[in-house]
Amino acid sequence: MEKINGYIASNEQRFLDELFDLLRIPSVSADSKYAADVARAAEFIKNKLIEAGAENVEVCPTNGHPIVYGEKIIDPALPTVIVYGHYDVQPADPFELWTTPPFEPTVRDGKIYARGSCDDKGQMYMHIKAFEAMMKNDALTCNIRFMIEGEEECGSSHLGPWIMENKHRLKGDVILISDTSIIANDIPSLESGLRGLSYVEVEVTGPNRDLHSGVYGGAVANPIQALCEMIASLKDENQHITIPGFYDKVLELSKAEREEMARTPFNLDEYKKDLNVNDVRGEGGYSTLERTGIRPTVECNGIWGGYIGEGAKTVLPSKAFAKISMRLVPNQVSNEITTLFSDHFNRIAPAGIKVEVRPHHGGEPVVTPTDSVAFKAASMAMEETFGKKPIPTRGGGSIPIVALFEKELGLKSVLMGFGLDSDLIHSPNEHYGIFNFKKGIETIPLFFRNFAQLSK
Ligand code: BES
Ligand code: MN
Ligand code: MN
Repeated sequence: MEKINGYIASNEQRFLDELFDLLRIPSVSADSKYAADVARAAEFIKNKLIEAGAENVEVCPTNGHPIVYGEKIIDPALPTVIVYGHYDVQPADPFELWTTPPFEPTVRDGKIYARGSCDDKGQMYMHIKAFEAMMKNDALTCNIRFMIEGEEECGSSHLGPWIMENKHRLKGDVILISDTSIIANDIPSLESGLRGLSYVEVEVTGPNRDLHSGVYGGAVANPIQALCEMIASLKDENQHITIPGFYDKVLELSKAEREEMARTPFNLDEYKKDLNVNDVRGEGGYSTLERTGIRPTVECNGIWGGYIGEGAKTVLPSKAFAKISMRLVPNQVSNEITTLFSDHFNRIAPAGIKVEVRPHHGGEPVVTPTDSVAFKAASMAMEETFGKKPIPTRGGGSIPIVALFEKELGLKSVLMGFGLDSDLIHSPNEHYGIFNFKKGIETIPLFFRNFAQLSK
């Protein structure tokens, strides 16, 4: 390990420079305007995998953005780790809220500011550099396969079919992913669960055209008001979701499990201060960590309609729209929840209002075992580099493909992320600590060493 660490230390600046090159490519998967850049990012990953020593490296086309595959099989008798990550990023707007431009990586205060610096280019790239360090020092202890996709931020819709067609290339023992967060740089943690997702867009229609709000106002249902009432009614005064059947399958944690969770370090005052809110709000009877980790939620992500231009236009609009997400926990099923939502939303529409619910992407929740060889290998690796045993946590975010890996490949994932919740992923001024980037590169080879040893 000393040789590897020496190699990492003496190549640190080059590793960072390469990451910056990748961050300069605006690989926004949701916006077709950037399709050529997404393809360029895939080529970049391919070349770096080859340079690091991977074989059979290929940019695999799909009906959407490509998947980059590469492998190094040193001995079929050794365990195989499949590394998953994504090279696509969220849209960067609103651009004006960035202190420095999102696709011109800039270091301030030991942090790399750029879209994708943490989610997930910076975290994914740690794996390529850790692999390089292991290869150049003859220290790779497991077989490795890379599967780096370009559609995670827009639903991973072509990865599922690709996995089914490429099962022969995906034989392995565990999936290793760095796309989540730790509690703090001095409080390492390992996520042992992710929430699922149902995402819908709703269109609410009142009259067949925009109307004069004086001539018709007061006599015809206003779709904006109706939509607001409908959204507001999705939670009761206890912030409990009112959609019939929504909680039917929710797996309740045992008292012991909740007590265990309550021991996770969490400072509510700092949390509020960071968000500049004078209080938190969520489902009664649950702590903040429980509200984001083990309880489902419904959130309105965006709402629009009517006149929003300069000045005043007296109009009773014909339509209003909203995008609504539901975060799910075990054992809720994404499609079922979408149907429950859709039926409920149609049912609660007031007279004079028509509703259309259009489902977007979704994904199933997962819990990963904390007593597996792979989890132990990750836990021991982090303990060695951080000097503290990582705490198992439940993450609030979603990586829909994790449940699919389990279903299609029968493989569990280890979520060994190194980001911080304060890294502003998906927001303006996303950043990633150089400390975290380096920690990741140092920890990954230890995972490989431990996994090989513990698998014997
Ligand atoms: N890396 C995130 C998920 C994440 C972030 C998990 C922080 C745990 C902690 C991932 O890229 C992501 O943003 N997922 C989306 C879902 C996707 C279908 C757009 C999400 O959670 O909103
Ligand atoms: Mn991600
Ligand atoms: Mn993301």
